[in-house]
Amino acid sequence: MKLKIDLNLGGFVRRGLGVACLSALAMLSAGCRLDMHLQPKYLPYESTDFFADGRSERQPVPGTVARGQLRVDELMFTGRENGVAASTFPFPITRADLERGRERYNIYCTPCHDYTGSGRGMIVQRGFPQPPSYHIQRLRDAPVGHFFEVMTNGFGAMYSYAARIDTADRWRIAAYIRVLQLSENATIQDVPDSERQKLSQPVASQSAGKQARESQ
Ligand code: HEC
Repeated sequence: MKLKIDLNLGGFVRRGLGVACLSALAMLSAGCRLDMHLQPKYLPYESTDFFADGRSERQPVPGTVARGQLRVDELMFTGRENGVAASTFPFPITRADLERGRERYNIYCTPCHDYTGSGRGMIVQRGFPQPPSYHIQRLRDAPVGHFFEVMTNGFGAMYSYAARIDTADRWRIAAYIRVLQLSENATIQDVPDSERQKLSQPVASQSAGKQARESQ
């Protein structure tokens, strides 16, 4: 116990005389109690002479998995199933997932891939290598796991987004890329009946609305 308290005081001195004085004062006024504000503990990477190797940390048991890092779900974390890029999502995709995917896509991917996925984003217009359009046949045919993998591991000139976009959001972006692909290749048959009416009206009613606004 004594050893640890000494170390702790050492830490305080390292962190500055001011803090040391304050803590000394605090200890005096508190009648030398050892409260939670002065814990006998080692800070990360603090050295010690207690163990022969001078380190306060012990080696974790081989095979130890850090909390939150148990990644046994192959599909979820690698985008593959039995080693092959997967054609399914690891969780059902709802409208809310697509909206989240659109938001994340617009933040992280549009600078290069642009809002439609054509690959002519602003960074590309300023000289970054141009990515392929998402609407070429090869990428329309690519399984959704491929998009997840590209974001997770990077691809050629494109760096990995794994550190910036969490796993579930990478899947949501992959789903939204499917939306973009459909939007560029949709036919009138893909539009629900109720919405089709609007498609045949807009020119007249929109310009009527515009005129009404302009005359106000
Ligand atoms: C800084 C620019 C940049 C950003 C931002 C970017 N990419 Fe890319 N992306 C590229 C480039 C460049 C390539 C082509 C890489 C190559 O072929 O060397 C590429 C290629 C791709 C491909 C095609 C891979 C293939 O099979 O040809 C996909 C899919 C893709 N990116 C998805 C994304 C997604 C999703 C995001 C957002 C999370 C994103 N990219 C963000 C530059 C970018």
